[in-house]
Amino acid sequence: MPIRISLAGATGWAGSALALAIAKTNDITLVSAVSRTHAGHSLGDVLDEPLLHCPVYATAQEALAHPCDVFFEFTKPDVAKSNVLAALQQGAHVVIGTSGLTDADYAEIARVAEQRRLGVLAVGNFALTVVLLQKFSEIAARYIPQWEIIDYAHAGKKDAPSGTARELAYRLSNIRPSELTIPLEQTQGVVETRGARLTGSQVHSIRLPGYTISAEIIFGLPDQKLTIRHDSGSSAKPYVDGALLAIRKVNTFVGLRRGLDHVLDL
Ligand SMILES: NC(=O)c1ccc[n+]([C@@H]2O[C@H](COP(=O)([O-])OP(=O)(O)OC[C@H]3O[C@@H](n4cnc5c(N)ncnc54)[C@H](OP(=O)(O)O)[C@@H]3O)[C@@H](O)[C@H]2O)c1
Repeated sequence: MPIRISLAGATGWAGSALALAIAKTNDITLVSAVSRTHAGHSLGDVLDEPLLHCPVYATAQEALAHPCDVFFEFTKPDVAKSNVLAALQQGAHVVIGTSGLTDADYAEIARVAEQRRLGVLAVGNFALTVVLLQKFSEIAARYIPQWEIIDYAHAGKKDAPSGTARELAYRLSNIRPSELTIPLEQTQGVVETRGARLTGSQVHSIRLPGYTISAEIIFGLPDQKLTIRHDSGSSAKPYVDGALLAIRKVNTFVGLRRGLDHVLDL
């Protein structure tokens, strides 16, 4: 039986690329979609893809009336958490691609996923080069006690820091906090220029025209430094393969996992 998906954000930049890729698979099928603008239409008509027949609803709650195995969240941070909790209450596993959820949001989602004995896979960035950046950074953090994270995005990205930067800081917090030679409160001048302290890392977000999405981490030691950097191009293609993998694997565990590497054999 194909895996039945409800896709919130199916008409967006990332969600539409995923929907079109799902149309070409044999083992995954879309049963419902969410978009306020296109509610009441068929997703196939909206995306001009005759292989997609599923209805579009304005809310996740309406879409979840169709039984599904996996709910895929690709909308906006303001509705993402309530969509995810609604899906868990309906008995669906969940993949979260939306950025902007906080660690407190994830703690609540983890609790409900455990209670319901369902899997939630949250992936700040589905691109393989980001997965490798995370892995390599975790190795580096074991040897190098000081680092800072820089998140670059186009001027229109509202959430800061990016999901990629949040997830990286969260993962490094499981190794240790980054040391500061000068404590922040002893900064002379404008302390905000040192960035935000996020789960033990200094994080700096750049939002400017000319950027797409990039993430960089710099590890520093006396007289040497290591920079690891990921750059996205302008298409959603790098995210699609990782998103399909997440859909296929999210039923293999119970509770919350953050990062695609949890379902990759790295
Ligand atoms: N994890 C990753 O690898 C990855 C990759 C790319 C993007 N993202 C993240 O994924 C999210 C979506 O990005 P995007 O670039 O695809 O955005 P987008 O082009 O603006 O698409 C957003 C989608 O969500 C729907 N939507 C937005 N608000 C909604 C609401 N309140 N209720 C119901 N539907 C709503 C939109 O349809 P309507 O406006 O018609 O409702 C649209 O289908 C962002 O958080 C982005 O940072 C993550």
